[in-house]
Amino acid sequence: MEHLPVLLEEVLEGLALRPDGYYVDGTFGRGGHSRAILARLGPAGRLLALDWDPQAIAAAASLCADARFQVRQLPFARLREALADFAPDGVDGILLDLGISSPQIDQPERGFSFRHDGPLDMRMDPTAGQSAAEYLAHVSVEALATVLRDLGEERHALRIARAIVAARDQGALTSTRQLAVLVAEAVPKGKPGIDPATRTFQALRIQVNGELDQLDAVLPQVLGALRPAGRLAIISFHSLEDRKVKQFIARHSRPPEIPAGLAVREDERPLPPLRAIGRAMMAGATEVARNPRARSAVLRLAERTAAAWAGTADPAARMRAP
Ligand SMILES: C[S@@+](CC[C@H](N)C(=O)[O-])C[C@H]1O[C@@H](n2cnc3c(N)ncnc32)[C@H](O)[C@@H]1O
Repeated sequence: MEHLPVLLEEVLEGLALRPDGYYVDGTFGRGGHSRAILARLGPAGRLLALDWDPQAIAAAASLCADARFQVRQLPFARLREALADFAPDGVDGILLDLGISSPQIDQPERGFSFRHDGPLDMRMDPTAGQSAAEYLAHVSVEALATVLRDLGEERHALRIARAIVAARDQGALTSTRQLAVLVAEAVPKGKPGIDPATRTFQALRIQVNGELDQLDAVLPQVLGALRPAGRLAIISFHSLEDRKVKQFIARHSRPPEIPAGLAVREDERPLPPLRAIGRAMMAGATEVARNPRARSAVLRLAERTAAAWAGTADPAARMRAP
């Protein structure tokens, strides 16, 4: 299935695109957002796209004739490194559309979906790191139950973890179908229409790719990467990610706390590095009808202020520094 970009108009508006601006799309996917950004940039505008999936990078080749466009196969946690050549003075907007793309889900050989039988892989970059099968081959019941509970919000985490480890001890778990059947047999029947393996697959995918670590790593870098008035747009697809984004924006939109005993005039209070823009945005009924993937998307926006940023993730700590 082709990948339909979610909340496209909201993202374009939220980025407040300047024709001569420099932008980063940290999750190129199939380039739905990237193409629309390029269409609004003038000849002096530039777009750098990142993705760590080699298939996404291959798909980006069709845009490479456009001199305003560059693409690199890098995880977005390495944003600072990616910007060193592209825009050492910072960028005017950063987009992250988190999670996986429709082509990734639809290709059985990627192992992301319980709907198709394929190898239990789930890596965004299948050439690096540990696949889901390799992870499951060694994990303990306790560690797996924690992952299923924390990353999948799975109520039956312990039961599923025990069933997986018992099955693995009888012979390797190598296919998505094997795993989906195992989970279905381990848990009580749930709501019709929702596959009982949904949460297990989500948790394993997040674990295998270190997705929350990626987000934790990129967020503070964004503060150093955005120029004053530069915009941040992040689309999350589950509450764990959205909570991180929401808390990050809230924390950095508050004026830094003044240490007790330090007299600071009201007009000398330091600016926070971000200004939150509006509330979280969700797709409307028309978009969800056209693109069911948009159902769980949440977009949050923020603008970089002119406040200096010394690179620590904690503005209060910066003030306390000698
Ligand atoms: C939801 S899709 C993006 C779709 C894209 N906006 C479009 O319109 O086609 C997410 C993409 O981000 C990539 N991705 C996920 N985590 C990443 C990370 N930490 N670094 C780089 N790319 C990542 C995935 O490989 C996938 O291609």
